[in-house]
Amino acid sequence: MNNPLPKEKNKTFTLFDNENGNSYEIPVIEGTVGPDVLDITNLFKESGLFTYDPGFTSTASCKSGITYIDGEQGILRHRGYDIKELAENSNFMEVCYLLLHSELPSPEDFSKFDNLIKNHTMINEQLVYLYRGFKRAAHPMAIMVGVVGALSAFYHDSTDINDPNQRMIASHRLIAKMPTIAAMAYKYSIGQPYIYPNNELSYSENFLNMMFAVPTQKFTIDKTLVKAMDRFFILHADHEQNASTSTVRLAGSSNANPFACIAAGIASLWGPAHGGANEAVIKMLTEINSKDNIDQYLLRAKDKNDPFRLMGFGHRVYKNYDPRASVMKDTCHEVLEILNIKNDPLLDIALELENIALNDEYFIEKKLYPNVDFYSGIILKAMGIPTNMFTALFAIGRTAGWISQWKEMIEDPIKKIGRPRQLYIGEDKRNYKPKEKRERKSIFEWLWSK
Ligand code: SDX
Repeated sequence: MNNPLPKEKNKTFTLFDNENGNSYEIPVIEGTVGPDVLDITNLFKESGLFTYDPGFTSTASCKSGITYIDGEQGILRHRGYDIKELAENSNFMEVCYLLLHSELPSPEDFSKFDNLIKNHTMINEQLVYLYRGFKRAAHPMAIMVGVVGALSAFYHDSTDINDPNQRMIASHRLIAKMPTIAAMAYKYSIGQPYIYPNNELSYSENFLNMMFAVPTQKFTIDKTLVKAMDRFFILHADHEQNASTSTVRLAGSSNANPFACIAAGIASLWGPAHGGANEAVIKMLTEINSKDNIDQYLLRAKDKNDPFRLMGFGHRVYKNYDPRASVMKDTCHEVLEILNIKNDPLLDIALELENIALNDEYFIEKKLYPNVDFYSGIILKAMGIPTNMFTALFAIGRTAGWISQWKEMIEDPIKKIGRPRQLYIGEDKRNYKPKEKRERKSIFEWLWSK
């Protein structure tokens, strides 16, 4: 189903320039649900004015039918289906189909799609040599950025973005190969042999097998842990126009190939303010080390002069509990129970930290709640996933969203290259000065004075 075109509302905003008496009618456009938008497409042409919105706090960069978030209500839906229902009843492969094709698959379509993905799980054997170019201790996200970007050198037959068939093959390849690439990054870091994908296994079971199996013995994993892994990927699948998805869209708007665009998304996700937060949460909880230290860390989080932030807390859109965080919290308890981990010190600190923060007026006033990253790391750590792999797992789940958003943008009839403008605050025109006429304002003094 193609997204219905947004409708112009019978409503306009009038901008009045009291300096020259001009006024500009700004049309209002409405979507299915959520805030209406002011269509400022012609504002610069008509008024010579730009809008200014660093961080895009009030800006809709595109129209999309994939994911809807209501930050005040704590709502997250994919193609109209609530995330809690999908986490409870669906599986990651089905969610990938839903994001890509707008509808939940019939049993026949699901089986076809599942087999399509399975037929792309291996990577070109030549890529093994690319891993050898990295230090064994390289961060897995550095390897993911490099190897995913390099896929365009191997799968050139699915880089023509104007060919719908090639777009679909590239989408399947990326969803299918991310677990293989991530698991290989882990095996490379510990000097163990790579485990090839096993198409007898489900997507998430195959990933855990490639991560933890060894050639010398049979590997089995508890089905509850497979379900937890699959739920982790569902909860990370897509999230509207977040930083990494916007990166993928902007890269894709220049008609760059899909592998390069997803590599750009991985790079953006790596940041600790974004997908790198799950790794940062574990580091923070480990540093806090005891419930007795929580108060001093909360003081630091509230101190304007201290760069410390409570990792896993706060969100640009959610000013209520992130619906994914509550599912993650429940999954946390399930996984620890299955693994017979009676009292996980990091979980104890996390629960106490959440309890104190949610009753602290600073966090209440700024509407800071736990986000998707607050509990996810505790689950992954309990499952034996090393901390530096956490964001790589986020990237596996998010690839479904990135590639669906990329496909939606490419298929938009009015696709334009993304090219924002700026508010220029630099020097006005000045003439070239010969060396002898320049006063000494050496930056080196600044460097040396540091
Ligand atoms: C993800 O966008 C997405 O959808 C992202 C994501 C996805 O699925 O793609 O949901 C995944 O990235 C989740 C967020 C993970 N990041 C973290 O947990 C890092 C910690 N959180 C913060 O860095 C922050 O909350 C952000 C980056 C998530 C959001 O930042 P905003 O929206 O730019 O808000 P802000 O930094 O302007 O904060 C508003 C106020 C500030 O105080 P004032 O300047 O108003 O006085 O709240 C404060 C901030 O100082 N604040 C925090 C805080 N987060 C915001 N203070 C302490 N601890 C925090 N975590």
